[in-house]
Amino acid sequence: MSSADLFQEWLTSHSERTELALDALLDSAQTTPLRLHKAMRYAAQGGGKRIRPLLVFAAGQLGGDDSAAKQIALDSAAVAIECIHAYSLVHDDMPCMDDDDLRRGRPTVHKAYDDATALLVGDALQTRAFEVLTKAQCAADMRLAMISALAAASGSRGMAGGQAIDLESVGKKLDLAGLKQMHAMKTGALLSCAVQLGGIAAQLDAQQMANLQNYSQALGLAFQIVDDVLDATADSQTLGKTAGKDAINDKPTYVTLMGLDYAQKTAQELQETAIASLEGFGSKAQALKDLAFLVVNRGK
Ligand code: IPE
Ligand code: IPE
Ligand code: MG
Ligand code: MG
Ligand code: MG
Repeated sequence: MSSADLFQEWLTSHSERTELALDALLDSAQTTPLRLHKAMRYAAQGGGKRIRPLLVFAAGQLGGDDSAAKQIALDSAAVAIECIHAYSLVHDDMPCMDDDDLRRGRPTVHKAYDDATALLVGDALQTRAFEVLTKAQCAADMRLAMISALAAASGSRGMAGGQAIDLESVGKKLDLAGLKQMHAMKTGALLSCAVQLGGIAAQLDAQQMANLQNYSQALGLAFQIVDDVLDATADSQTLGKTAGKDAINDKPTYVTLMGLDYAQKTAQELQETAIASLEGFGSKAQALKDLAFLVVNRGK
């Protein structure tokens, strides 16, 4: 089998694993209150590339044992991070933020339901993420490390903080350092956390975690640069979200600040940096390398 076929097989099986774990660990749509739980499932299921869960699983392959506890830790981490991500998208799309009608090829949650439901869906997906981690049947210190990492990445020094910078930067011209910081926080923090959660489940040592951090920092920035590029170059049908929205909302992005060519070149360089950081892991890191390639070259 070619290496491309092997990765495709890995991708298919771990995408299926993600969908099954989400289905199992989200409350059923029959749970009271029905409308809220239905809307939570609408937000978290039915689309999305599942890059963060895939990063959890790929980093989880780098070490550790063959125990059921490790697999439970990975499933729980994959679901938890996707719940936080789905919540961030629901709130990101609300009229008070980016005001978007389309997400993952469907009406956004506040359009399919209403603003108040969208607000509560985000709140409840966030707390569900932590509940899932607290209930993971793995060692208590592993659980605590995962909860701590996810909390730090999601909050005011991570994703939520980055979203605050994004909103206060509308109509402004950030410098390159400011732009990088915004991207690292609003998007990089959760992507890095996904890799970190996998590393925790794989019981990696401090040096290995540091190498992983170099990988995920480069990947996180590359991910948002590519998101900015696609916003400016792809169509809504392909993206499953409104194309050209950054220009409409007057957002500073890699494209508006640095130009399309620079943005694309930087994303390629970051992909190389990310892959080079994995050198010491050998063939175990192949899925992480393939994911870096996928992230940077998606939409091509
Ligand atoms: C979109 O994330 C928001 C950003 C952080 C750029 P994704 O591109 O991962 O969205 P889905 O999950 O595939 O829909
Ligand atoms: C969103 O960035 C980052 C989040 C934390 C959700 P964008 O606003 O560019 O994401 P899209 O383009 O709407 O998916
Ligand atoms: Mg936004
Ligand atoms: Mg947006
Ligand atoms: Mg975007």
